[in-house]
Amino acid sequence: MATTATPMTAVPEGARISICEVGPRDGFQIESAFIPTDSKIAIINALFAAGLRQMQVTSFVSPRAVPQLADAEAVLAGIDRPEGAVITALIPNLRGAERAAGAGVDAVHTVVSSSETHNLKNVNRSIAASLSDFEEVFALLDRAGVAIEGGIATAFGCPFEGIVPPEQVARIAKRYQELGAASVGLGDTTGMATPATVRAAVQAIRAEAPGLKIGLHFHNTRGVGLACVMTGLAEGVTHYDASVGGLGGCPFAAGATGNICTEDLVYLLNESGYDTGVDLDAMIAAARLTQDVIGRDLPGQVIKSGPRLRRFDPGLTATAAG
Ligand code: COA
Ligand code: ZN
Repeated sequence: MATTATPMTAVPEGARISICEVGPRDGFQIESAFIPTDSKIAIINALFAAGLRQMQVTSFVSPRAVPQLADAEAVLAGIDRPEGAVITALIPNLRGAERAAGAGVDAVHTVVSSSETHNLKNVNRSIAASLSDFEEVFALLDRAGVAIEGGIATAFGCPFEGIVPPEQVARIAKRYQELGAASVGLGDTTGMATPATVRAAVQAIRAEAPGLKIGLHFHNTRGVGLACVMTGLAEGVTHYDASVGGLGGCPFAAGATGNICTEDLVYLLNESGYDTGVDLDAMIAAARLTQDVIGRDLPGQVIKSGPRLRRFDPGLTATAAG
């Protein structure tokens, strides 16, 4: 019997959902063994080959803070840049903006946390100092023609402070809008988001900063990452970050684990009648390559089970006989 996908969401069936692959940044940054630059480039190219067209390929941060991503310029210089691809990178400060612009990124993801303690741990300054530094950062990027997504970490809770009020997240979003950001990305740094907190944060930003685009960045730390995506869709959000194989985590947030997994997200969205532009089989191949490079099983599910209509040979499965 044919089935028709009827998502109970504000985003109509057939709509384009944009996925930003963050594995090469959020995924790699928490790996302690250095991943050779050539392997990083091979994974990024395989992810592009799967149809992804937005990717955070690295970050321009202090190499002392994140030694894994010290090869940011070399990664940028070595990757394919398919037609229409938007290459982005995370930056924390002016030095990061200069490096990113010099390396030829299309867009950056700036980072400030919505909790003071995590901002201090992550970028060694107060929220106010980060936001004030961003004035010069935005001016530089504007001159360089680099687009900006204003990142807000710990947007759904902080592992050090607990609850982060949605009004605080909305205030930072408003400041980003005043600085000239067209979009904000809400980072669920340690997987504290739930459908209720997602709804509250999205609605608070819409009330405080109308017209600002919202992207959602979930970690699957407590197993409800894809449920949070469904809530995002119900709220009309069409942009999500995800990481190949479900790699990921912030080294400066206690208890951080992987992002929602890109191939699991692609599976959910494709099977729900949305247009992701990503081929699931090619995505699984890219995840297998990543798993080989990282050298351990990754948390994603579809990499293990395969697509829904994968067929097994009955001859190879035992029959229960009494
Ligand atoms: N890229 C490369 N080097 C940088 C840099 C950047 N974006 N920003 C600062 N540095 C260097 C400085 O040049 C300086 O080097 P020196 O000691 O050789 O002169 C050194 O780092 C210290 O600079 P300072 O501005 O005092 O930084 P800090 O020690 O206060 O650290 C950050 C602040 C933002 C640089 C650091 O906390 C950081 O890189 N954080 C990123 C964390 C991250 O990536 N988290 C995961 C993503 S959410
Ligand atoms: Zn993250």
